[in-house]
Amino acid sequence: MKKIKLKIKWPGMKIQKSIGIDLGTANTLVYHKQKEEIVLNEPSVVAVDKETKKVLAVGQEAKDMLGKTPDHIIAVRPLSEGVIADYDITEAMIKYFIKKVFGKYNFVLPEVMICVPIEVTGVEKRAVLEAAISAGAKRAYLIEEARAAALGSGIDISAPEGNMIVDIGGGSTDIAVISLGGTVVSKSIRTAGNNFDEDIIKYIKKTHNLLIGEKTAEQIKIQIGTALALSEEETMTIKGRDMVTGLPKPLTITSAEVLEAIEDSLMEIVTSVKQVLEKTPPELSADIVDKGIVMAGGGSLIRNFPELISKHTHLPVKLSTGPLESVVIGAGIALDKIEVLRKIEKAER
Ligand SMILES: Nc1ncnc2c1ncn2[C@@H]1O[C@H](COP(=O)(O)OP(=O)(O)OP(=O)(O)O)[C@@H](O)[C@H]1O
Ligand SMILES: [Mg+2]
Repeated sequence: MKKIKLKIKWPGMKIQKSIGIDLGTANTLVYHKQKEEIVLNEPSVVAVDKETKKVLAVGQEAKDMLGKTPDHIIAVRPLSEGVIADYDITEAMIKYFIKKVFGKYNFVLPEVMICVPIEVTGVEKRAVLEAAISAGAKRAYLIEEARAAALGSGIDISAPEGNMIVDIGGGSTDIAVISLGGTVVSKSIRTAGNNFDEDIIKYIKKTHNLLIGEKTAEQIKIQIGTALALSEEETMTIKGRDMVTGLPKPLTITSAEVLEAIEDSLMEIVTSVKQVLEKTPPELSADIVDKGIVMAGGGSLIRNFPELISKHTHLPVKLSTGPLESVVIGAGIALDKIEVLRKIEKAER
């Protein structure tokens, strides 16, 4: 019997699937380009069996298991401080998220753009790309968080103009000056949103002899945290464990105290921004004077943080629209701009 080859053509129809992934220390987000929406937002947590090393759960499910599991199950944050702390687990996580977005039976292989911090090593980059390919991607690309944040903040990074972006995440702050699609000057530091929480814990321990947890510290930061003194003081009552009696005790803390606690970390970020400005070529500095600095990332949401940076740099500073989402949206946009993005890592199956 003669074999007949069937060729089906759908004129004008091109099925495409592309996603951007923001592999954050705290949360992983996935942006579906064709749907134009964020389709996944889950904690970057993996639950692992300590003995067999088997991955038991990923994302929200893994986070919910935290503290409620037998001893041999541990919850791992594979991306601590914005770098890949555990490669195998990171790979499992990428696979899980891609599968979750596209389902088990995925006939059209997706194109994937993944964001990584500026200072990830070459080996780590290859590892992430390979993880995406083995998770079912047709092509995978990497882009630094700062460039993605700029794109997602609506900045035209292909223009021959200097743009400065400061992305303050949970584990790292990435500062970059971008022009003609490339990063001209950049700096990444390990001081970011989560450090403010640690500062608050230390401060309350030292000045009030009270132990509080990370969650409470984050709530304090979000509710009454500020980067500049407020004209009207705000307060918040929290509960902790008295270090002397060992008993639970309430405490009312003021916004001025929170500022005192986090001031050094805030200033570390300000100093790094100034260092990047000092290294910026004059022509590009002139553009930044006109256009100002754009801030993104959850850490930039502390009240008056743009004002603090503006005070010390004498430049206009504004928050990007949707600071928690600009990186992942930018990753999605980057898939359309591969040709203008200079230096982009790529892997193909
Ligand atoms: N309203 C808010 N005010 C202050 N801080 C906030 C607010 N909302 C979120 N944050 C902080 O933002 C940080 C998380 O930001 P983001 O989601 O951008 O980080 P990430 O992308 O996961 O981390 P990284 O980019 O370092 O890998 C956390 O420290 C969180 O406490
Ligand atoms: Mg981030």
